[in-house]
Amino acid sequence: MPRPPTLPSRLPRVGTTIFTIMSRLAAEHGAINLSQGFPDFAPPQLLLEQLHHHLAQDCHQYAPLAGVPALREAIAAKVAALYGRQYDAETEVTITAGGTQALTTAIMACVRPGDEVVVFAPVYDSYIPAIELNGGVVRVATLRAPHYRPDWNEVRALLSPRTRLILLNTPHNPTGSIWSAADMEALAALVRGTDILLLADEVYEHMVYDGARHESLALYPDLAARAFIVSSFGKTYHITGWKIAYCLAPAPLMAEFRKAHQFNVFCVFHPAQRALADFMVADPGFALGLAAFYQARRDFFRTALSGSRLALLPCAGSYFQLADYSALSDEPDTEFARRLTIEHGVAAIPLSAFHPEGTGQRIVRFCFAKHEDTLSRAAERLCRL
Ligand SMILES: Cc1ncc(COP(=O)(O)O)c(C=O)c1O
Repeated sequence: MPRPPTLPSRLPRVGTTIFTIMSRLAAEHGAINLSQGFPDFAPPQLLLEQLHHHLAQDCHQYAPLAGVPALREAIAAKVAALYGRQYDAETEVTITAGGTQALTTAIMACVRPGDEVVVFAPVYDSYIPAIELNGGVVRVATLRAPHYRPDWNEVRALLSPRTRLILLNTPHNPTGSIWSAADMEALAALVRGTDILLLADEVYEHMVYDGARHESLALYPDLAARAFIVSSFGKTYHITGWKIAYCLAPAPLMAEFRKAHQFNVFCVFHPAQRALADFMVADPGFALGLAAFYQARRDFFRTALSGSRLALLPCAGSYFQLADYSALSDEPDTEFARRLTIEHGVAAIPLSAFHPEGTGQRIVRFCFAKHEDTLSRAAERLCRL
């Protein structure tokens, strides 16, 4: 076969994601996989039954571009009940093929070559490639251990007349930190009087612990008026493999989002949308129960690790626990994570994977969205280190 033409990479610094690498390594070595962020719980039985039901109905052709109306209405009702903001299901809610697609599509809709986008590091791995593919220039604000709170003076210093977008994530992957009402007020003060847009990754919105409130941008009229807000059914209903999520935005912003969405995905798996619409109406309490459900797992895992030499960082939300291993080793975190998997049978993600420039810290991330038995076996191994 003739050699293909040379393709200069548009993402020269991107390789296989660390999540794939660590999950593969875990499988090869039979390690307990606390690396990739997915639950090992079954989805709610009723949701599965509803999917079966809809598979037997006549909904095998394209869904509407924006998503099945009943699902958009259920989402608008949920958001109004939780955050007191009424989104118009017709013009302000769009169903997407996962949170990552919603984030990438929002970036496509907003960012032109040369536009600056502020992100917070540690940063979820899809953001920077999506910004760069659209010619955007990344400006990184650093969240610092142990609380990983935004430093608003630093953020202010990163803003310029070219700033198009600020991309935030609360509850935060990988640190488990959450933004406070004071953070939201600081953000509102920074963007007031500008044309800066906001993109809020709220895929862990239902996983906030110790009685704290999830500070959705939807709670703040000034912020919501300039925001795309993303949540994911994958996280909420233990169905990461279904890849269904949604985006909320005021109608003029959503109109631009849909222009990008229609030529990128057009629409999402139809039977699952119908099943999710039914389930949201039938069991609105499921999502609300997640905080207690995951807080119990967080506490179980932290208690099980209390006899280890790992120093656990605070975890206020999400299903991730950071652990500082500097009492155990001086190795860089990628090396430590590899050795932990191969020699000790527990897979974790090195924190440097979430930093554009790497990090000198000795910290790894564990996912505790697992059965207690799995967490307990992993903790036993970690306590032997
Ligand atoms: C912070 C964050 N945003 C977005 C996503 C992607 O969500 P989805 O699986 O729905 O694409 C994830 C998944 O791990 C995540 O952790």
